[in-house]
Amino acid sequence: MEYDVKDLSLSHVGKGMVEWAAKSMPVLKDIMDRFSKEKPLTGFVVGACLHVTTETAMLVITLKQAGADVFLCASNPLSTQDAVAAYLVSEHKIPVFAIKGEDNDTYYKHIESVLEGGPNITMDDGADLVSTLHTRHKDLIGGVIGGSEETTTGVIRLKAMAEQGALAYPIIAVNDAKTKFLFDNRYGTGQSTIDGIIRATNRLIAGANFVVSGYGWCGKGLARRAQGMGANVIITEIDPLAALEATMDGFRVMPMEEAATIGDFFCTVTGDCSVLRKEHFLTMKDGAIVANSGHFNVEIGIESLEEISKAHREIRPFVEEYTLEDGRNIYLLAQGRLVNLGAAEGHPSAVMDMSFANQALSAEYLRYNSDKLRPDVYPVPEDIDKNIARLKLESMGIKIDTLTPEQEKYLSSWNMGT
Ligand code: ADE
Repeated sequence: MEYDVKDLSLSHVGKGMVEWAAKSMPVLKDIMDRFSKEKPLTGFVVGACLHVTTETAMLVITLKQAGADVFLCASNPLSTQDAVAAYLVSEHKIPVFAIKGEDNDTYYKHIESVLEGGPNITMDDGADLVSTLHTRHKDLIGGVIGGSEETTTGVIRLKAMAEQGALAYPIIAVNDAKTKFLFDNRYGTGQSTIDGIIRATNRLIAGANFVVSGYGWCGKGLARRAQGMGANVIITEIDPLAALEATMDGFRVMPMEEAATIGDFFCTVTGDCSVLRKEHFLTMKDGAIVANSGHFNVEIGIESLEEISKAHREIRPFVEEYTLEDGRNIYLLAQGRLVNLGAAEGHPSAVMDMSFANQALSAEYLRYNSDKLRPDVYPVPEDIDKNIARLKLESMGIKIDTLTPEQEKYLSSWNMGT
């Protein structure tokens, strides 16, 4: 079996880490138990490009239990947990191609290695696997019945492909399931981003001006958590509706031009490029800390930061100090890559439980339904989404009410008024 991981002797560490995660993933564990009896993916090859974490380990083990052959590479050069990669290779015989800190060439070489497995189903986080397949490995497209996409950025890319007629097979937008974005994007990104910033810097957040760029679900979660830590949170936005929401949620909203001059922490979560630019760096306070939690490392203009700096060094792990001509320092975290996975461990298992339940059930759905789907981007079927919410509540010991027959009748009638 071919694989490329940092060090197989780390496997025993990975084993404990994955066992720990499993304790917070009851919904996925339920699916794993059913899949291991029913084997719905027998004969299928799944090519997965995901952050190689303990939670992803639980997902790929579930897929293997379902009968699939799984090949896994990283969806970001900095997010791999090397011990987990070693554990999947040694104990589960899953070919993993991922090393934390790999360079760009190795990152793409690892994607190619997964594609060499000849996937029938692609599972992507950011759409790099799908875009490589559609550009450099068109010959393999015929063997693919469908795919799924984990994140907002990937869904945006895939919708652009579909609109331009470039998408060759159906893809399920796992990101857009309610049991995904309302929890993973909001509470997951909220907590893990704060975790990454704190692990990298060990700085006090209470009393600081904390600038969040982007008030989507990730920005909302991050802003709320930063506020909970005692920060004065400032939001920057380009969308009037999101800006209005942020205002009425109690945050200060202003253009980056203004926020740049007062921020102590900056974190971008917009999904767009060049959010922090030269003109902003030039007005930042000495000691400003700059991070990104969006999928790609395009949100912070690192080249322009380098251009205006006279010196640059790594002052501690995941913290790079840029010294400007006038002596001010700006600190960049995790090379501008997603700080929650680069400097911490990504979202907690309890939210990934629902995200990856969606992934596993979407793979099963594709196996039985892909022949009815044209090449396009599709939502997770509502019954799957609702069922995951139900199972998660059950696992938490929370019961809810059901409609009485009278209530059901009332909701389907239109002629009963005051
Ligand atoms: N994306 C964000 N957090 C993650 C995690 N813990 N595992 C896999 N993908 C993630």
